[in-house]
Amino acid sequence: MIDYHEILNTIQEEMSYRDVKGKVASYIPELARVDPKKFGMHLYRNENEFYGFGDHEEKFSIQSISKVFTLSLAIKNLGTKVWERVHVEPSGNPFNSLMQLEQDRGIPRNPFINSGALVISDILVDVLDNPKKELLEFVRKITGEEDIDYDESVAQSELSSGYRNIALVNYMKALGNIKCDVEEIIDFYFYSCSIAMSCKSLAKAFMLYANKGEILHSGEQILNPSTVKRLNALMQTCGFYDESGEFSFEVGLPGKSGVGGGIAAIHPQQYSVAVWSPVLNKKGNSELGMKALERLTTLTGLSVF
Ligand code: DON
Repeated sequence: MIDYHEILNTIQEEMSYRDVKGKVASYIPELARVDPKKFGMHLYRNENEFYGFGDHEEKFSIQSISKVFTLSLAIKNLGTKVWERVHVEPSGNPFNSLMQLEQDRGIPRNPFINSGALVISDILVDVLDNPKKELLEFVRKITGEEDIDYDESVAQSELSSGYRNIALVNYMKALGNIKCDVEEIIDFYFYSCSIAMSCKSLAKAFMLYANKGEILHSGEQILNPSTVKRLNALMQTCGFYDESGEFSFEVGLPGKSGVGGGIAAIHPQQYSVAVWSPVLNKKGNSELGMKALERLTTLTGLSVF
């Protein structure tokens, strides 16, 4: 029997803000204001077995972790047609890179880099009546928490500074891979990134991906198992931008990071876990978060490999 309680205590004792060298994301002004010392972790096994420490109940900006939710919603609505618009290969490039788009004729390498998520946003703006409302409904349903919401100030802050993302959509529109109005897509994309959640709620949400698409607490099958298999494969290979190989190597779990300093990961059929520490390494992933998850798979002796 694995003593998760003991393992999380050990991780909390071992990890220290004093050891981190990186910086909090500053290219989105509102994110630069977050206290760099925040640190929390939550591991969820089921309604009766969950463990957390530190700031695990405090909400933060989930940023790119939302790309897993928007992709889930796109596949749910459009099925495999999604793959005509976005590839499934690791990019090996920074998350906001424009470079490969020219070579690849406007088809993003994967849905977890910005260009890919913007195509997914285009799909959702096209097929859903009210994409912002439906995305929130999806996240609220899989967590069972009605108070999850967008953070207006983060969304507005990114709207006022999101030149690269605006360039990415316009460029893909020029290359024929964007259908809807650029402003509508950008608005939906920034709002998706602004969703505020705690480690506790994120871990609960990600249980969906550890449980073959069935919401554990309600029993509803919301995604089919083959979709979840593909989502997990993409998290494993592309969830950490150009550090996806390193995350697989060090941690060995499918997961997704965001520049708010959050990481959510799963061990199929075992647990989901979320960690938050806003200080990012050079690749834009939470420095302490990655270390904490490395300790988790080492101390439990369990990973998908
Ligand atoms: O679009 C951006 O740059 C941010 N809203 C999200 C970036 C992030 O978390 C990492 N991206 N894949």
